[in-house]
Amino acid sequence: MQEGRLRWDTSLANLVFSQQYLHIATNVPSSSVFGFGEHQHPSFKHNMNHIAYGMYTKDQSPKMYANLYGVHPFYMCIEKDSNTHGVLFLNSNAQDVTLCPEPSLTFRTIGGVLDFYIFLGPTPENVIQQYTETIGRPHLPPYWSLGYQLSRWGYPNIGAVEKVVRRMEQYGIPYDVQYGDIDYMDRQLDFTYDKDNYAGLPEFIQELKKDGLHYVIILDPFLSKDQSRGTYQPYELGEQLGIWVNNSDGVTPAVGKALSPGNSVYPDYSNPKTADWWTQMCVQFHNVLPYDGIWIDMNEPSNFLNGQISGCAHNNLNYPPYVPRISDYSLFQNTLCPDSKSFLGDLYDTHSLFGWSEAAPTFQAIKEATGKRPFVLSRSTFVGNGKYTAHWLGDNHAVWEDMHMSIIGILEFNLFGIPQVGADICGFYYDTTLELCLRWTQLGAFYPLSRNHNAIGQKEQDPAVFGIEFAAIARSTLQIRYSLLPYLYTLFYEAHAFGNTVARGLMHEFTADPETHGIDTAFLWGSALMIAPVLQEGARSVDVYFPEAPWFDYYTGDKVPASSHNKYASIHAPLEKIPLFIRGGYILPTQTPATRTAKSRLNPFGLVVALDDQGEASGSLFWDDGESIDTVENGIYFFARYTYREGHLKTSIVDNNYRGVNSLSYDMIQFLGVTSRPNGVTVNGKSIRSSDIHFQGNGKLIVHISAPLGEELDLMLQ
Ligand code: NOJ
Repeated sequence: MQEGRLRWDTSLANLVFSQQYLHIATNVPSSSVFGFGEHQHPSFKHNMNHIAYGMYTKDQSPKMYANLYGVHPFYMCIEKDSNTHGVLFLNSNAQDVTLCPEPSLTFRTIGGVLDFYIFLGPTPENVIQQYTETIGRPHLPPYWSLGYQLSRWGYPNIGAVEKVVRRMEQYGIPYDVQYGDIDYMDRQLDFTYDKDNYAGLPEFIQELKKDGLHYVIILDPFLSKDQSRGTYQPYELGEQLGIWVNNSDGVTPAVGKALSPGNSVYPDYSNPKTADWWTQMCVQFHNVLPYDGIWIDMNEPSNFLNGQISGCAHNNLNYPPYVPRISDYSLFQNTLCPDSKSFLGDLYDTHSLFGWSEAAPTFQAIKEATGKRPFVLSRSTFVGNGKYTAHWLGDNHAVWEDMHMSIIGILEFNLFGIPQVGADICGFYYDTTLELCLRWTQLGAFYPLSRNHNAIGQKEQDPAVFGIEFAAIARSTLQIRYSLLPYLYTLFYEAHAFGNTVARGLMHEFTADPETHGIDTAFLWGSALMIAPVLQEGARSVDVYFPEAPWFDYYTGDKVPASSHNKYASIHAPLEKIPLFIRGGYILPTQTPATRTAKSRLNPFGLVVALDDQGEASGSLFWDDGESIDTVENGIYFFARYTYREGHLKTSIVDNNYRGVNSLSYDMIQFLGVTSRPNGVTVNGKSIRSSDIHFQGNGKLIVHISAPLGEELDLMLQ
């Protein structure tokens, strides 16, 4: 951090602090500004040309610049000397921020206080580590949730789901999670299932589990109030407990209209009594449907009406003097009236906290119901959601542009401390096309949350529906994901323990190279894997920017020539390939893939040792049982550090408290960037047969070994 540098300079405009209007503006030291959410916009690095972003949670299919499902008033700025800082404006009221070319930022909010937090970095990773230390570090996801996930709205019956499971099996496509969208419910009522179309669902879920699959169910945050007496306990109990969001009188429940038949009330999750009720309902329902995770949807909260059935009164809360730049300049479009009352106060102040307040009780409910590590997927998010939930980017469209913008969304949510994020692979609305879906499946294989999902009425788009050639490409790409899961899981551990990002922009690692600030067509997993997807129809090559570092082609091990550094090189990308590069200086743990993580987790491990220009590399592996609660907090895990220097690969085992490693072993070590064939290789003092040593002219060396994972490995190249 540079002392004495001005990062916040509010002399630009007068401060206004009035009842329903607060205004503060600041110059920022550079126009490399990232963050603010949740919005769809065309570049990761913001356009500072008078762009205004409203922030107010809204059920809105991604639309350019509009306020979407979540609120994250957080940004990061790379200063001219590449020191980086981040700023959080902790405020839950409807607000907007305007980005101007000075460069400057103007914040306007209609309530609360001006509560700013500044994180001084100095690197982008440091900023996010400091930010998540403040707002809550991301939870460690269950290992299975890093597998491939399949969903759709509009499986008409259980037979349709079975068919998909079977064809995925037939093609051997890696796959860990099947979702049940609202179709599984009886008339879209939470905590019920359709006994006609989904007859036998509990037994079906048990069968899936035997096969190593997991089942995630959707729940909506509205309860139908119009069922016959004595037939719908979740509502009746909630009514008795008085746990709904209320009208402005603070007594009568706010009634809106949502999916389920009749009219609906909204659980006020900010009330501890509601959290208890929700937990009880989820636990009880788990006895009926043995789900593994919960998908909390529509929690902006969404309403098919504008305000309550009775409308919204003309007062200062529903119609404030200044309405931020949000869609339709309405605080109650498709949601409840701002003068409604929650336990925490008027929805005017707490509206954007609704989804956030549902997160912790749902997390808790899964813990109690399953006794295992929770997986919660939430549509609406606020500052700190990452502690409990993953996120997907909502109802996108099956168009190429949305595929590109998904990368921006994924990078942003990593800044917001919600690293387990993905977009609906192949697109939600519209019928996808084979080529788009294929390229999206390749990109989606590298989303931290890899889920294919689409809307009712659209054509099927699971990777097994397009026939043998598509299936083969999906299989081989997802096999790459599965083989790299130990690396990905270690990144999630680092996010949980230290607040690192999982998917990150090139600018995180090459901050001093200004070209990287604007790159959002490629991204990294951690420091070491670059993903450069094809984002254009018909394209069979990608222009990839290689910042100054040794890079190796993932597929061949070929070293990217130094003449391609600091510039774009055209990389061949036939239909069956997504360009991937490994950065020299890093060691990545891998595992032989399988069609389920339950199986791949038992397979042999490998290491990819990619050498830097000094012939050195380092890396690490975090491993635990993948599903117990609080393994990190309780120290029940294995952690190994790897270093390679002067021909010598060594493991140091830092933590060894997970007995499961004892049955695991290494079977292959791959080196990239080796200058010549070694005369011999020894592992823990014993020579390896020369038939187990394969050297390729391009510097790739493969050594087959057999060594226990749980013991220190000492490998010498002679
Ligand atoms: C809206 C969600 O965004 C979408 O993913 C889901 O399929 C529908 N609700 C139906 O539940």
